[in-house]
Amino acid sequence: MKKIPGSEITPEHIYLNRRQFMTAGALSAGALALAACGGSSLVGGAASGKTTQAQGAAAPTSLESVYGAGALPPELAYAEPYASSTTDEIGDPLNKFDEITNYNNYYEFTTNKEAVAKLAQNFTAYPWQIEVTGLVDKPQTIDLDAIYKKFAQEERIYRLRCVEAWSMVIPWVGFPIAALLKEVSPKSTAQYVRFVSIMRPEEMPGQNAMTLEWPYQEGLRMDEAMNPLAIFATGMYGKPLTNQQGAPFRLVVPWKYGFKSIKGIVKIELTDSIPPSTWNTAAPNEYGFYANVNPQVDHPRWSQASERRIGEIGRRETLMFNGYEEEVASLYTGMDLARSY
Ligand code: MTE
Repeated sequence: MKKIPGSEITPEHIYLNRRQFMTAGALSAGALALAACGGSSLVGGAASGKTTQAQGAAAPTSLESVYGAGALPPELAYAEPYASSTTDEIGDPLNKFDEITNYNNYYEFTTNKEAVAKLAQNFTAYPWQIEVTGLVDKPQTIDLDAIYKKFAQEERIYRLRCVEAWSMVIPWVGFPIAALLKEVSPKSTAQYVRFVSIMRPEEMPGQNAMTLEWPYQEGLRMDEAMNPLAIFATGMYGKPLTNQQGAPFRLVVPWKYGFKSIKGIVKIELTDSIPPSTWNTAAPNEYGFYANVNPQVDHPRWSQASERRIGEIGRRETLMFNGYEEEVASLYTGMDLARSY
């Protein structure tokens, strides 16, 4: 199968407006797909490289104004999970909604992947604010509501490869990190972006244990953050993110090991020095700052050459940069990838 770059096939033509999605809940999935794609074929539409709003769709509507603050809408409990395709751009089938939401790493709740969903059930994800600060000309605290209004939410089907050697294919809904960074006008001295997760031990039982240093933190180099593949996710399968996935606002950096895709982000800071990252701080000899998926560089305690796709029997070969080499390899030209792991 011809490989279409992830940045193109990710159905940028799909514009998931939450009100539209909710009303479309009454329609068949096919009808929704047609409305969202404006009738063009998936690949044809995507290859044009355009992000188009669904025909006749209203302006983006905030989750809060649609559903009311503080609660997930009952409608969503009934709407079928929706994705525009059954596979990613290399033909790997999407993982099921239930697989994606019942096997999670979110140490703020627990280290037991299958128990996160239950423990996170009562986490208050709405309302939510994100502080954007540091080396920027226009620092601001942005309400989630404003984020929905300001940034078109697109579907992005990506592989997620955990450093623990399991993987999934996930149809995210979100928008490029670059779009948000442009809003705050980074200063020329900004070289890195630091992301900080929420600290709320009263709702996150894992934060009462010293499993990791809290709050969870991550970082990217500025050019990595500006790469079109790097997104903030607000949803998945056409629904708002579940709490266990890092609702309401998380990072998704598909060419890096999953621990870089930090959940429950409340602060974004532009800096001129490498920001601390939680797993690198915890075990620097095992988890680097870059954490690019690389089948040739083993973890000190296990091989990274293959992976277990959740829902499949047997193992798959791990792809360089998780299969996004064409899009991101140039970010690391001249770097020794075994040393800058
Ligand atoms: N973000 C926070 N705040 N806390 C975490 O424990 N775990 C990371 C990452 N983001 C984690 C986090 C790891 S190790 C992985 S593999 C992914 O989230 C898993 O994302 P998923 O549960 O949505 O598959």
